[in-house]
Amino acid sequence: MDFKTKLQAFRVRVENGIERMMPAAETRPRRLHEAMRYSMEDGGKRLRPVMLIAAAELGEPWADPLPAAVAVECIHSYSLIHDDLPCMDDGDLRRGKPSCHRRFDEATAVLAGDAINTYAFLLLSRHYREFPELAAGLVMDLAEAAGSEKLIGGQMEDIESERSGSANEEQVDFIHRNKTAELIAAALGMGGRLSGAGPAQVETLRGIGGRIGIAFQMIDDILDATGDSRTLGKAAGADVAAEKATCVSLYGVEESRKRARTHTAKALEQCRDLKGDPVFLKALIRSLEHRIR
Ligand code: IPE
Ligand code: IPE
Ligand code: MG
Ligand code: MG
Ligand code: MG
Repeated sequence: MDFKTKLQAFRVRVENGIERMMPAAETRPRRLHEAMRYSMEDGGKRLRPVMLIAAAELGEPWADPLPAAVAVECIHSYSLIHDDLPCMDDGDLRRGKPSCHRRFDEATAVLAGDAINTYAFLLLSRHYREFPELAAGLVMDLAEAAGSEKLIGGQMEDIESERSGSANEEQVDFIHRNKTAELIAAALGMGGRLSGAGPAQVETLRGIGGRIGIAFQMIDDILDATGDSRTLGKAAGADVAAEKATCVSLYGVEESRKRARTHTAKALEQCRDLKGDPVFLKALIRSLEHRIR
């Protein structure tokens, strides 16, 4: 199967998993559950869950990786709902449609984000309860990546960087690593766990995820500066408008691209240490460097 067909097949699996595993929109309170589904369903690239499944399939998964993949997408989607709130990045458009608080209202968006966040951990504990050690490991990986020292910490410094006027390399690296790369590293590491991989393979996967994650956020910053809202499905130019510390504000577009390329090359190099056949994973990593959304 060629890369594009395989990617599409992985995405369909993820979309079906989301459809099947998220609470029904009719669940009371209906407005909340509608908002949860609205923000989880369609429009996302599903990069993190696809990576998790691809990593799991490098070995012989001893449980279905799909619930874990959906759990990771839950954390990501909740983080975007909150990221778009007026008190954060104030984004009106997300995944090509009105952001959650624009389609519903701010209170509903805050609560939908909260609910999707906790739902991720319900999915993990529910679907892997027959394998308590696996379940605990997955919960730990995801909670750590989503926590105050990582995703939320990265978001905090991202917000603090607005209009500070003096971002340096260390700060931008902290923001990229924590708000974005750690969740991608966790997704790959969780896939490794699900495949029964040993600590060395899990560490390699996490290392690759960290590199891809940094490159991914660099490209995101570049696209904010160079892309258009229609293609991106979210507002372009938002970082400059908010005077955020990004790699573009620090190094400019060309140097940022160069750095993203270096991280991508390192990630590809690290793939050599993987057990299993990483052909798909490598093609996915390569494709991210040239993405336009
Ligand atoms: C956007 O992530 C936020 C970042 C961490 C850069 P994605 O670009 O993966 O967003 P979706 O899931 O495809 O909408
Ligand atoms: C968002 O980063 C990262 C998280 C939500 C954790 P951005 O603010 O750069 O994402 P976009 O550009 O709005 O998608
Ligand atoms: Mg943000
Ligand atoms: Mg944003
Ligand atoms: Mg961005």
